[in-house]
Amino acid sequence: MSHFAIEIKNLSKTYRKKSVSKEALKSINLEIKKGSFFGLLGPNGAGKSTIINILAGLVNKTSGEVKIAGIDIEKNPQAAKFKIGIVPQELVLDPFFNVRETLEIYAGYYGIKKSHRRTDEIIEVLGLKDKAKAAPRSLSGGMRRRLLVAKALVHNPEILVLDEPTAGVDVELRNQLWTYVKKLNVGGTTILLTTHYLEEAEELCDEIAVINHGQVIAHDRKENLMKLLSSKELIISFAENIRSDIVATLPQLKTKMLASDKISITYDPEKTEVEKILRIISGSKIQIKDISTQQPDLEEIFKHLVRR
Ligand SMILES: Nc1ncnc2c1ncn2[C@@H]1O[C@H](COP(=O)(O)OP(=O)(O)OP(=O)(O)O)[C@@H](O)[C@H]1O
Ligand SMILES: [Mg+2]
Repeated sequence: MSHFAIEIKNLSKTYRKKSVSKEALKSINLEIKKGSFFGLLGPNGAGKSTIINILAGLVNKTSGEVKIAGIDIEKNPQAAKFKIGIVPQELVLDPFFNVRETLEIYAGYYGIKKSHRRTDEIIEVLGLKDKAKAAPRSLSGGMRRRLLVAKALVHNPEILVLDEPTAGVDVELRNQLWTYVKKLNVGGTTILLTTHYLEEAEELCDEIAVINHGQVIAHDRKENLMKLLSSKELIISFAENIRSDIVATLPQLKTKMLASDKISITYDPEKTEVEKILRIISGSKIQIKDISTQQPDLEEIFKHLVRR
């Protein structure tokens, strides 16, 4: 038995439309441990949904290997589907069935016997009780999102994947949703979540991977990644050119030469004060001309990770 919920090896995807082709995933490798709360972070177009849609069997991979709960999605797509519940980014619902019917139909699709169905429980926990007989068309965006989550849960999957589930969702539903998803995770369900919101990933996830332009640029335990993400950059220009070995004389600091008269120092504002850094620098007797600091935003962090 594999102790990974999801194993992705050298996964590539190129979308092709006539003469246009787009390489959305470039040999991705990712292992997601059973029971973890995993965050997939990245800017628009990074390839997050492409990974998820491949897991869901909605998009065909170009090459590589994907296993869900140890099952190869290519060799045994049906069995793999039973292990995973996916909440897609797009709010697509069948307009012909009401909330309750939608869930019943899905349970039927997974071959779950009437006596084993959890339709009422799911309707209840997702706050859809008042809407059980409502047509999806008449539901608000947030309610549709709830129904999509409900749909993903009918077969009690080992792995729950949520593709930006809180986009366009109010604070109350967001909190309710997270409370419930956390409970599932505590009960042993592996959670894979994609989001743009760093704070969301920070609060919920134990492990985070950052992807950009179809590549994994960082993958670490949350604590380690957050250290990197909370860092600030101090740019110091000097009145004269400095020797590159000045950097070596500042072993206490994470320094990088930007130009012959300019260095950047990355530091954690929670642990180091700027004043302390400046004291160390002035100890080296070089005259400072200008100083600026930068708080890396998500975009900066991505760049920083790419540079590493
Ligand atoms: N069906 C498709 N045909 C052609 N190109 C596509 C298709 N789906 C996605 N792409 C392209 O693949 C790249 C990755 O898209 P993807 O939807 O996976 O990104 P994402 O990380 O989910 O972005 P977002 O945060 O905006 O949801 C993008 O450049 C996108 O334009
Ligand atoms: Mg997406």
